[in-house]
Amino acid sequence: MDAALHYLRPGTLQLAALPPLALYVHLPWCLKKCPYCDFNSHENAGPLPESRYLDALCADLEAALPLVWGRRVHTVFIGGGTPSLFSPDGIARLISDIRARLVLAPGAEITLEANPGTFERDRFRAFRAAGVTRLSIGVQSFDDAALHALGRVHDAAQARAAVAEAREAFDTFNIDLMYALPGQTLDALQTDLDTALGFAPPHLSIYHLTLEPNTLFALHPPRLPDDDLASDMLDLIVQRTAAVGLSRYEVSAFARPGHRCAHNLNYWQFGDYLGLGAGAHGKISFPHRVLRQVRWREPAQYMQQALTGNATSNQTEVARADLPFEFMLGALRLADGFELAQFAQRTGLPLSTVMPTLEAAEQRGLVTLERDGAAGLAARARPTVRGFDFLSDLQSLFLPAQGRARQAEPEIRPVTLPRPR
Ligand SMILES: C[S@@+](CC[C@H](N)C(=O)[O-])C[C@H]1O[C@@H](n2cnc3c(N)ncnc32)[C@H](O)[C@@H]1O
Ligand code: SF4
Repeated sequence: MDAALHYLRPGTLQLAALPPLALYVHLPWCLKKCPYCDFNSHENAGPLPESRYLDALCADLEAALPLVWGRRVHTVFIGGGTPSLFSPDGIARLISDIRARLVLAPGAEITLEANPGTFERDRFRAFRAAGVTRLSIGVQSFDDAALHALGRVHDAAQARAAVAEAREAFDTFNIDLMYALPGQTLDALQTDLDTALGFAPPHLSIYHLTLEPNTLFALHPPRLPDDDLASDMLDLIVQRTAAVGLSRYEVSAFARPGHRCAHNLNYWQFGDYLGLGAGAHGKISFPHRVLRQVRWREPAQYMQQALTGNATSNQTEVARADLPFEFMLGALRLADGFELAQFAQRTGLPLSTVMPTLEAAEQRGLVTLERDGAAGLAARARPTVRGFDFLSDLQSLFLPAQGRARQAEPEIRPVTLPRPR
């Protein structure tokens, strides 16, 4: 039986309609590996194997098409790694290869991640001409000492130049910052925020620097701000962004009206995404099952495998018992929460699977259940301020029973601003 037909066979889940589909494309190379980063990114000082990689992506997409036949793609996100190391011609080819094989929704958001460097002028405009509609700039900090401590290859002047150029070239863009950096004070964060907000960014993502296993920072941890200071930093971020009209629509994302990241919103709302490229993850729904895919992680192996039609290293169906937690991981990160009907639409499970837990979370002041109409039925669940502060505790209430038993008394630890994976 061919793969797509295999996934269409009957099963216990009942998805009335398929969710919106997005496309993620991973470009895995960076000039230098940052000591805190555990993303699938690989140092490459020499010329990139750009054309072979683009061939591999194209072969990967063609082999995946039967899984998404007839479905429209709403957003594209070209992430990394450092995608801006690819030439504008390469990005143009990638976007036209995608357009030739998939139907993109009119005006689809196409984001490209870019790192500050010495070559922004004209290059960002050329990305725009190639079809990119939104740039996400990995600034991290505008402070030279902090950038040095983070092992970044760019300095503060280059960060400012990149943002200024993005503002000229794009109608919408994002600045990525991190906080609770080695040795960072509240004043230093204030200065970073002043600089970032001085560019009037339509979108800002701010992540709490985390020490990830298997990174240089995990092996040689730098001195980081303690929890109290990190919590004061978060308060400052929330106040300062609100004061300039950036709304905190997700735990670590702030946007002006009309500039929310449609691609990430789809992840958080348990939408579907096809993931192409080395180590990329995907989630694809069928009427009776939800499939997760992972591509080969190491770039040379990925290219070799993808070019022979075998880009996927791992493919599994999400177990029924895991679906509530997987849905809540994203949905509870959103300030607006989710419509209860969306839970059944996206997981194929009845709402009764999670209603008792949602009610228990309401009792503990972690979510609000908003009632609708005369019948007073709950229609939407929204995390409260306390729910946002204790997000991982809230999410873990939805772990399968076995997992909950293991962590019967979860440590109550305020969540700052974790980044999405
Ligand atoms: C995978 S990076 C790709 C973007 C780009 N290469 C860069 O470094 O700016 C996406 C974002 O994740 C965040 N990030 C990466 N490692 C992190 C960590 N250990 N803790 C918190 N945020 C992290 C950074 O803000 C970064 O901009
Ligand atoms: S943080 Fe960005 S630039 Fe640094 S290694 Fe990771 S992906 Fe590359």
